[in-house]
Amino acid sequence: MTTPVLRTEQLRITLPGGLTAVDGVDLVVEPGQIVGLAGESGSGKSLTALSLFGLLPHGSRAQGRAEVGGRDVLTLREKQLRAMRGDEVAMVFQDPMTSLHPMLTIGRQVTEHLRHHHGTGRSAARARAVELLTQVRIPDPERTLGAYPHQLSGGMRQRAAIAIALACSPSLLVADEPTTALDVTVQAGILRLLDRLRREEGLSILLITHDLGVMGALTDRLAVMYAGRIVETGPTQALLTAPRHPYTRGLLDSLPRTDGVAAPLRAIPGSAPRLTTIPPGCAFHPRCGHAVAPCSTDRPSLLPLASGAPRDEGRMLACLVDPYAAAGERPGGGAVSPT
Ligand SMILES: Nc1ncnc2c1ncn2[C@@H]1O[C@H](COP(=O)(O)OP(=O)(O)OP(=O)(O)O)[C@@H](O)[C@H]1O
Ligand SMILES: [Mg+2]
Repeated sequence: MTTPVLRTEQLRITLPGGLTAVDGVDLVVEPGQIVGLAGESGSGKSLTALSLFGLLPHGSRAQGRAEVGGRDVLTLREKQLRAMRGDEVAMVFQDPMTSLHPMLTIGRQVTEHLRHHHGTGRSAARARAVELLTQVRIPDPERTLGAYPHQLSGGMRQRAAIAIALACSPSLLVADEPTTALDVTVQAGILRLLDRLRREEGLSILLITHDLGVMGALTDRLAVMYAGRIVETGPTQALLTAPRHPYTRGLLDSLPRTDGVAAPLRAIPGSAPRLTTIPPGCAFHPRCGHAVAPCSTDRPSLLPLASGAPRDEGRMLACLVDPYAAAGERPGGGAVSPT
């Protein structure tokens, strides 16, 4: 069995002040996979990602395990974390302007880690930079090396940020909303680039986005987060074509259809809870049309779908009611009926 590139086990993140923002997250990214992490704003996606780099807000606490290449990053010291960042795991953010230094040329930023952490010589680093900019399809890489971030378009800046992330050939790329700040056609180019890097370079990617359309096009597996917990996970196509958690279904129903079928957009009622007021039991129950009394007191565990059917393989669900199960598949033989 190969070691997963990333495996978190019961990852729990407590912010300064004691609020729990991530509450027992299990995630696995196998080599060469793109795994999506979806969920509304504030569900804990970015904190999950930052914990892999030892970059949580000052005073936060991470518990559980977060293994990158088999090594638990939560136990590493700052020096070891610095060595790991860029080399084993690298990150791309929503807005490339926040990750690119405005006063340094693209060339300097692409080569910096190679020069300072690997002792690569000037001309070898420059050659690698040209190779990287070519790989991310930046036209005229030689000239772009001398450019400053503000001289590039948004899409080219994000390509440059990806080149920087890839400079030391990390095994895992964490991309946090990498296309949200870009317009649609530019978005598609960046997504194609990520897909190509996975296919041609075997790069593994944890892709964070609230956009389930993007997830469907790109990811192998998907985990849906709500209020700091994963509520549903499984192979992307199965999960998107037959969602089992009312929250996943709500997210999908709120997407415009692109298949020409006229269907009303249905927003999920209410809004995601604040950390200070996460409801007990299933955190989604106040917004859920299928909730029954125990949903407000009993916390559902994330459990494998028990049908045994091949279509349900690798799927897990945290829902006491499971209203979208086929008849006879519901917990208690369908005894729990939706309200
Ligand atoms: N530095 C911080 N200090 C205090 N609270 C924080 C901090 N960073 C995040 N939080 C809180 O932790 C929760 C999870 O935040 P996180 O950024 O992980 O959400 P997210 O799922 O990435 O949301 P978005 O889709 O908006 O990026 C939110 O309630 C957020 O307000
Ligand atoms: Mg975020």
